[in-house]
Amino acid sequence: MIRKIVQIGNPALRQIAKAVNESEITSDEIQNLIDDLIETMRNANGAGLAATQIAVPLRICIIEVNKNPRYPYKPDIPLTVLINPKITFLTDERISVYEGCLSVPNLRGQVDRCPEIIIEGFDREGQSVNFVSKGISAGTFQHELDHLDGLVFTDRMRDASSLTTIDEFALNNEEEFKKQVVSIVAHYGS
Ligand code: NI
Repeated sequence: MIRKIVQIGNPALRQIAKAVNESEITSDEIQNLIDDLIETMRNANGAGLAATQIAVPLRICIIEVNKNPRYPYKPDIPLTVLINPKITFLTDERISVYEGCLSVPNLRGQVDRCPEIIIEGFDREGQSVNFVSKGISAGTFQHELDHLDGLVFTDRMRDASSLTTIDEFALNNEEEFKKQVVSIVAHYGS
């Protein structure tokens, strides 16, 4: 079922989501919630969606990038369901990337992200997962995990003056940013 995505200003986006009880991951309730997140994200052409964005305060988020029309420059990421995820930064380096969010309609802004991270958590079968993500994709994971702590990308912006509408981004920034993405992908592999 497609759920309503709440928008910035809605208190649901500011909640700290609660951990899912591991024994409940395979329950119908959680499995149906995950199916709804996937359907809702794909319907909105999102690159990810967190449960807090549909006003469910549980630590579940999904990520998928597959030739995304909202982010044509993003490297693909296969559908990834993360439950109770944790991120560990592997470097002090940061990359500056433009982000957008289904809960912050029509805007993009520059955010610093760690380009090498480990993600740990559980998948939808309740199996533990542990993997490294790099470059642009690492930023996408950090964006989704932030939602579980009540943060949106605008909170992470170092310089509020980089905030732009999508149309103005396309006119003024996208060409330059695509070049940056190409060099980030060349350096980090994703
Ligand atoms: Ni978002």
